[in-house]
Amino acid sequence: MTGGEAPPGILVLHGPNLNLLGTREPEIYGTTTLFAIDEELVKRAAARGYSLHSFQSNSEGALIDRLQAARLQETARGVLLNAAAYTHTSVALRDALAAVRLPTVEVHLSNIHAREPFRRRSLIAPLCLGTICGFGAASYHLALEGLIGYLSADRMRTLP
Ligand code: DQA
Repeated sequence: MTGGEAPPGILVLHGPNLNLLGTREPEIYGTTTLFAIDEELVKRAAARGYSLHSFQSNSEGALIDRLQAARLQETARGVLLNAAAYTHTSVALRDALAAVRLPTVEVHLSNIHAREPFRRRSLIAPLCLGTICGFGAASYHLALEGLIGYLSADRMRTLP
């Protein structure tokens, strides 16, 4: 990066009900709020030379619109995506990922493979660089590390 240039951006998308983190089923999702998670991610990204913007919606269409905008406006180099319940159901979100082709890491606070059988299937996983799940709020930190490592190595051409 040369002087005056904007830092490269990372988009964090949080799906339905994640706005309730902190009080939502704390035995599964922990007590950290979404605000605290986002604040920490901004700090960690800035320390690595990236700007980071988060967006939460309970609506599938709004998440897709935000993802498309990031691509069209070229505001993001990569994405952290916790699609929450849409992970398991949304062909539309899966298709949006395939269309925008931004390097994406799938994130879950809980270990989706150790829960109900319907959570073991992710429609978005095949479009992602990788998946981090089961580490609570730290899943986001690990995913950020993975994404930044990927972007720094400039391996854009090896996208799945
Ligand atoms: C989740 C796991 C999903 O199965 C669930 O629907 C969520 C949260 C997680 O972060 O652990 O809402 O994505």
